[in-house]
Amino acid sequence: MSRRPLPTEAPRERAFLVAAPLEGAPTLLGPEDSLEELARLADTAGLTVVGGAVQRLRRPDPKTFLGSGKVREIHDWIEETLADVVIFDDELSPRHQRELEKVFTDDVRVLDRTALILDIFAQHAQSHEGRLQVELAQYEYRLPRLTRAWTHLARQAGGGGGRAGGVGGVGLRGPGETQLEVDRRDIGRRIHHLRDELEKVRQHRQRYRRRRRQGAVATVAMVGYTNAGKSTLLGRLAGTEVVVADQLFATLDPMTRRIELPSGRAALLTDTVGFIQKLPAMLVAAFRATLEEVAEADLLLHVVDISHPQAAAHAQAVRATLEEVGAERIPVVTALNKIDRLTDPRQADSWIDEFDRAVAVSAVTGAGLPALLAAVEHELYQEMVPVDVGLPYEAARLLSLMHEQGRVEKTEHTDSIIHVVGRVPRHLAAEFDPYIRRRRKARSTPAADAS
Ligand code: GTP
Repeated sequence: MSRRPLPTEAPRERAFLVAAPLEGAPTLLGPEDSLEELARLADTAGLTVVGGAVQRLRRPDPKTFLGSGKVREIHDWIEETLADVVIFDDELSPRHQRELEKVFTDDVRVLDRTALILDIFAQHAQSHEGRLQVELAQYEYRLPRLTRAWTHLARQAGGGGGRAGGVGGVGLRGPGETQLEVDRRDIGRRIHHLRDELEKVRQHRQRYRRRRRQGAVATVAMVGYTNAGKSTLLGRLAGTEVVVADQLFATLDPMTRRIELPSGRAALLTDTVGFIQKLPAMLVAAFRATLEEVAEADLLLHVVDISHPQAAAHAQAVRATLEEVGAERIPVVTALNKIDRLTDPRQADSWIDEFDRAVAVSAVTGAGLPALLAAVEHELYQEMVPVDVGLPYEAARLLSLMHEQGRVEKTEHTDSIIHVVGRVPRHLAAEFDPYIRRRRKARSTPAADAS
């Protein structure tokens, strides 16, 4: 995982990691596993991990988060390991960060998991929208912490643009204002501007989605813990090249590809940002526009790395984030991925009942993919929604759509409308909404049908 710097690269900064969970607080991963994940995040951000410590806390110290004894101990480790940065696995308040930096001397910076994830996002965001989202989150994170330069985090948002860094010195000082006040005001303005820009992007995306809906193609959004194999699976199913990296959060920008289902029907498959435990709420909020792709999909394809020892906790973290973005009601098909890494691929079978409509697959070897596509198609098309509509003649295309993709049970032509009773796949139901006469219950009785 760690690599040697190329001769032209700046030496990697040295990071010391600290996990300090509160006793009794609910967590998905134990502190050691969480620290290991933090180490992967640090490596992805380009840092060299030189050591780590776990300390269970009864309650955080109001000033330094950790008790004074532990702070002294870490201070000594920093000197011994020549660490440049100390990274906490849990979210630190701005005050904790400031106080700890004072204790650890001026040259050592104190960061937390959120700052690290933000830094990775800034390096990986490619699209205009992705960069806006990351820049907004970076500024929101930095505003209450604005006391000194964040050289590590002063990297430009999205690797370009040059606005997220170099906050100090921007703008002219008003009468009686300190440089800090000027900086805060400038950041406040920038945050406001970024929110406006993102709102425009969001509206554009919504319009685009609506147009896509009229094309009547079902949409499937891939969700999964970071590094579960979503991009690999997307590439494999769509038969195209996509960026795949053994890194956390390699893909930030949504990518949509057309895939073919076993019956020859098409569906649109979208890969979005990976999830992680302790995903900061501000990041979920900043990525709202992207996550709407998930919340409005007809079906979710949950990709789980079943070869990972923490697969169950990862899946649980994904479900929690789905709830946060309002996607918990969307039906799910689960791809238990990377079965080629299991000593015996049949080991995956013992997991199948633990997940929603699970199919064991390998995105790399292609094993199980036909069954996965069949499960996706079944979920999209077999469970149809009953509709009872009065279609005006200008909307007659919906009748052909129902013939093509659903089931027509009864039609009756009058002078002004066509009365149609039948069933349509869930992703088409919204198109029929404006013409509904009355919705039949999903499991209507024969008597009710006849009426
Ligand atoms: P994020 O961008 O972090 O959300 O990751 P992702 O879920 O898109 O994962 P990605 O497709 O980038 O794959 C992560 C790593 O897992 C890469 O090194 C892939 O080659 C590897 N991988 C993906 N699927 C499989 C699989 O079925 N078997 C094996 N052995 N490796 C896989």
